[in-house]
Amino acid sequence: MKRLIVATSNPGKLKEMQEYLGEGEWELQLKPPELEIEETGDTFLANACLKASEVARSLSSWAIADDSGLEVDALGGIPGVYSARYGQTDSDRIERLLRELGDEKQRQARFVCAIAIARPDGTIAAQIEGYCPGEIADAPRGSNGFGYDPIFYVPSHRLTFAEMSPELKRSVSHRGLAFKAILPQLDKLM
Ligand code: IMP
Repeated sequence: MKRLIVATSNPGKLKEMQEYLGEGEWELQLKPPELEIEETGDTFLANACLKASEVARSLSSWAIADDSGLEVDALGGIPGVYSARYGQTDSDRIERLLRELGDEKQRQARFVCAIAIARPDGTIAAQIEGYCPGEIADAPRGSNGFGYDPIFYVPSHRLTFAEMSPELKRSVSHRGLAFKAILPQLDKLM
């Protein structure tokens, strides 16, 4: 088994990553909570690289990190890397986004997920971004998922992320696509 430290202290995130990477080959471990890394990058990729690199170097181990969020065209890419900090709760964040977008007709948006893998010396061994294009719905719909899922509408499926089954969301989402793309690279690296 190959060991990878996940640059998060959130067990839910580790479980989700384990599902994407498959059971068996990778032993994922949470980073220690006292090792805190500030997300100071101004792109998703910069933040993923920063987190993977710091964790790898501090623990002298291979590490993986992801960073994700929502970019809304009519708001110039906002909330972007501030997606998690755009409000106190999921419903605050959704309300704020709908308020700022108002009755704007151009509602194109995309979810982005960046993943980085760092070697034990902190250098980046692989990096990738996955995207899911969609639109911001006029009002929340559906009750699955988390975050901005109820207002992220995917025209090709005529569903919001929150109306999709977890399996369908995994197959079309920015995170699903990014993990699928990084797996072959990961297999070659370690
Ligand atoms: P992070 O990658 O854990 O920093 O997440 C950034 C933020 O982006 C989350 O807190 C959510 O608000 C939002 N986000 C990222 N991916 C998704 C998704 O798949 N659905 C809904 N919101 C998401």
